[in-house]
Amino acid sequence: MNDDLQRRIQDALANPQNMGELANADSVGTVGNADCGEMLRLWVKFKEQNGRKVIDRATFQSFGCETAIAVASLATELIRGKTAEEALALKTEELAGELGPLPPMKIHCAQLVEGALRSALAPEKVEATPAASSNSPTLLDSFSKPKEGIKLTFLDEKK
Ligand code: FES
Repeated sequence: MNDDLQRRIQDALANPQNMGELANADSVGTVGNADCGEMLRLWVKFKEQNGRKVIDRATFQSFGCETAIAVASLATELIRGKTAEEALALKTEELAGELGPLPPMKIHCAQLVEGALRSALAPEKVEATPAASSNSPTLLDSFSKPKEGIKLTFLDEKK
């Protein structure tokens, strides 16, 4: 990882946003990556705004990976005020936001966040397509076109 990316990740980790369980969440998604052993859980709460159901708040828990924590911190801020469809249409690199392009070995960290978001916002589609993609341009695309690359495991939730 280059120094610049490391600095941006450390900046995001210096003040991580939206960490921890969200009480009274409307949905929750959990994914795990069997290769690196990382797990990420994401909670989402909605609200009505101008006749639209939008994301009021999203929080997450992750277990160790700094890049996944940094991406989840940025992504949970990014999806605020968006509908589920708008959030699902975000590309992996958009979720990583100001971290900028991730090196190949770290792309799966952002995909873990993407998978947890997908699991929380569209669990019925996750069941239909249990494998996440390494090169799907959007979350919605990955529903209809399973691809190879990342080994995400979607875990059962108590909702
Ligand atoms: Fe696997 Fe970051 S190293 S999620």
